[in-house]
Amino acid sequence: MQANKIREKFLEFFRSKDHKIVKSAPMVLKDDPTLMFTNAGMNQFKDIFLENRTAPYPRVADSQKCLRVSGKHNDLEEVGHDTYHHTMFEMLGNWSFGDYFKEKAIDYAWELFTQVFNLSKDRLYATVFEGNPDENISKDTEAENYWKKYLPPERILTGNKDENFWEMGDTGPCGPASEIHIDLRPDNERNHTPGAELVNQDHPFVIELWNLVFIQYNRKTDGTLEPLPKKHVDTGLGFERLTMVLQNKSSNYDTDIFQPIIAEIEKVSGENYGENNNTDVAMRVIADHLRTISFSIAEGQLPSNNKAGYVIRRILRRAVRYAFTFLNQTEAFIFKLVPTLVENMGGAYPELVSQKDTIQNVIKEEEETFLKTLDTGIKMLDKIIGRAKTEGTTTIDGRKAFELYDTYGFPSDLTQLILREHNLSYNQEEFDKAMAEQKARSRNASVVEAGDWIIVKNEAHSHFIGYEHTEAEVNIVKYREVKQKKKTYYQLVFDKTPFYAESGGQIGDTGSLENNEEKISIANTIKEHDSTIHITSKLPRDITTPFYAVVNESERRDTEKNHTATHLLHYALKKVLGNHVEQKGSLVAPEYLRFDFSHYQKLTSEDIQKVENIVNDKIRRNIRQTEERNVEFNEALKKGANALFGEKYGDTVRMVQFGDSIELCGGTHVSATGNIGFFVITSETAISSGIRRIEAVTGTYAESVVQNKMQQLEKITQILDNPKDIVKKAEKLRDENNELRKQVEKLEKEKNQQQKQKLLESQKQINGINVITGKLEVSSADALKEISFKLKNEVNNLFLVLGAEIDGKANLSVTISDNLVKEKNLDANKIIKDLAGELQGGGGGQAFFATAGGKNPDGIDTAIKKAISYI
Ligand code: SER
Repeated sequence: MQANKIREKFLEFFRSKDHKIVKSAPMVLKDDPTLMFTNAGMNQFKDIFLENRTAPYPRVADSQKCLRVSGKHNDLEEVGHDTYHHTMFEMLGNWSFGDYFKEKAIDYAWELFTQVFNLSKDRLYATVFEGNPDENISKDTEAENYWKKYLPPERILTGNKDENFWEMGDTGPCGPASEIHIDLRPDNERNHTPGAELVNQDHPFVIELWNLVFIQYNRKTDGTLEPLPKKHVDTGLGFERLTMVLQNKSSNYDTDIFQPIIAEIEKVSGENYGENNNTDVAMRVIADHLRTISFSIAEGQLPSNNKAGYVIRRILRRAVRYAFTFLNQTEAFIFKLVPTLVENMGGAYPELVSQKDTIQNVIKEEEETFLKTLDTGIKMLDKIIGRAKTEGTTTIDGRKAFELYDTYGFPSDLTQLILREHNLSYNQEEFDKAMAEQKARSRNASVVEAGDWIIVKNEAHSHFIGYEHTEAEVNIVKYREVKQKKKTYYQLVFDKTPFYAESGGQIGDTGSLENNEEKISIANTIKEHDSTIHITSKLPRDITTPFYAVVNESERRDTEKNHTATHLLHYALKKVLGNHVEQKGSLVAPEYLRFDFSHYQKLTSEDIQKVENIVNDKIRRNIRQTEERNVEFNEALKKGANALFGEKYGDTVRMVQFGDSIELCGGTHVSATGNIGFFVITSETAISSGIRRIEAVTGTYAESVVQNKMQQLEKITQILDNPKDIVKKAEKLRDENNELRKQVEKLEKEKNQQQKQKLLESQKQINGINVITGKLEVSSADALKEISFKLKNEVNNLFLVLGAEIDGKANLSVTISDNLVKEKNLDANKIIKDLAGELQGGGGGQAFFATAGGKNPDGIDTAIKKAISYI
């Protein structure tokens, strides 16, 4: 059965059991401060479990893109070394929100496995939670009893908190889990050692397939468990592992999910899979990481230097490093695998198809940059090795290895490998210590401690009324205290709110919370899942009374101008540059807008003008906003709405339309385009290969930009004596200036030559030494140096002291022939330090040439006289 078919069968089975099939949420998360990436299918339902949101359907099933590379669930280091862990994987899951519980969850799983996928019953094992007295949870005998319907007692095992109590992170919904494992070993091995002994022992052929979690608690910030009002089911079935089992393979990488990629790696690298452990590991790493990086870029998360972008960069670098070390790939090559991936998975994930070029460009550039880093690192390491060999040491300072890793991104395992080739190693303890110090430093810088939510009123919350209102009477429903870098602030959630929470690029509203008693400012508004959080520096004295929530209206109106302008800009870019233009990032603030998009070359000034013209034309037409809420997602796409990959859309969406520009958007907008007033692009740059960035302003900000430019132009025109054609005049001035500069340089050279000649003629002998002294007219210290060196070459046995006043300051140089330095112990450096006092300044240099400068040009003559006294 092909992988795609397996996915379909799973969904079909649960559809037949009255489950609603929903879309995968994006892999890169935007509105959960506790998590960077979706690490489990249940993430998108977290708020339903916590009752922050009502479930749209009681039963749901899907296939979710997951990434386990940071935080509580991190498999990165295993990937490639075994055959069944991945960074990105698909998790098939079914959910019950307060509907069925343990019995049905187990029944469904058993039916699907044994009747639809026909797995052999005698290879299956179930585990249940053994309980934990510390947390007052007893053994899950309930699940155990249900399993007894299907399995003999010796194949129902118990597991501890690590294995059988599932938690998404340090806090949040959680509960006991029951896992299904399969024993894939041949019969003789199975007869020899019972599978029960190998469950959860990291055996490659006795593996976990499906995790049935019975969500019934919320883990609070103080570590305690709070029972949830309802009981839910959350199951996760590893798609790649299931495919391996159903395709009768012994490794996930042998299935049709990975084989085409591996075959392509073989082709490009010239190595064969299955012949050598190191090259096999490298191929698995690359095949796995290629998927992660490509999906992430398709969702708009590019590799970068912070947060999610940094994790993606590190994953890509891990792949490059394995390719470099084990497949001898010293040039970018992972980008060449993208077409194969797209061919394979583009059917199920169309974003890969439409983003193919961007994915390739970004990967190629990242690869090239990192390969340069590797090259620099290897050179630095060569030096370290050279030094160690001369000094006769065998252990390198661990801090040096850490510096290579930390400052230059050079992987520590590569350092180890290269050192080993020279019979060297580094001190691991020192390395670990430096790493721990660094971690502590960055932890202190970013640690945010959020307390538990304190419920004020038990009712629905965060109903957004800001499309129509900028003021409303509200009640505080819950709040919590947050500590960050010794500062304390508060997060408040209201029953309803006119405040727009930062999302979709648009910044959060600011404003205030007011009543007769007090006024508290709201510094920002953010979103966390379905809660709209208002940030304040203090709590109201009485949180139970109603307040007026008042949005800073002028800021909001300016922001709206920029948001609508962003839509018009997006539209105009597609018109002028083509349909390949995809939004890659956006910031909508009151002062300006920033828009990142895919396009492979710099925009010409004509392009920019055309784009500005289209937008301004739409502004002048004063097109009215039409807005439709609760449109079916697919219906909106049919109407031609722009949807962004990597955004989380529900089944129904909001459509914002200004004439031909239609976007799925939750943001706030002007009521008609005329309100924008005026649109000006202020800059156009590249942010990475294939991604451009435009910054623009609207309204009064655009007016100011143009006024400032006009004023500057006016001033320049005056300075240039009001010429008819100012550009021609400026060009003429530039050309004349260049010509004059050349002439001045030529004249200076001649003059310096003459001065040098005069000095030669003035040469005297004092105590058997040829002495030249003099004051010159030169325009730079360099000219002084040049004349000094010329004289030193022409006259031997020379003691030369030259002075010059340059730009009102004193300059002095002392030059001494090498023979005098050696034989007479004369030292220009020492002499000049003494003379510098006369100039009221300082100086230094070498024994044969030194210079000094000071603010007293009148001291030059005295200094020269004093110099003579040395000989
Ligand atoms: N949340 C559980 C897991 O990720 C089951 O879906 O394993």
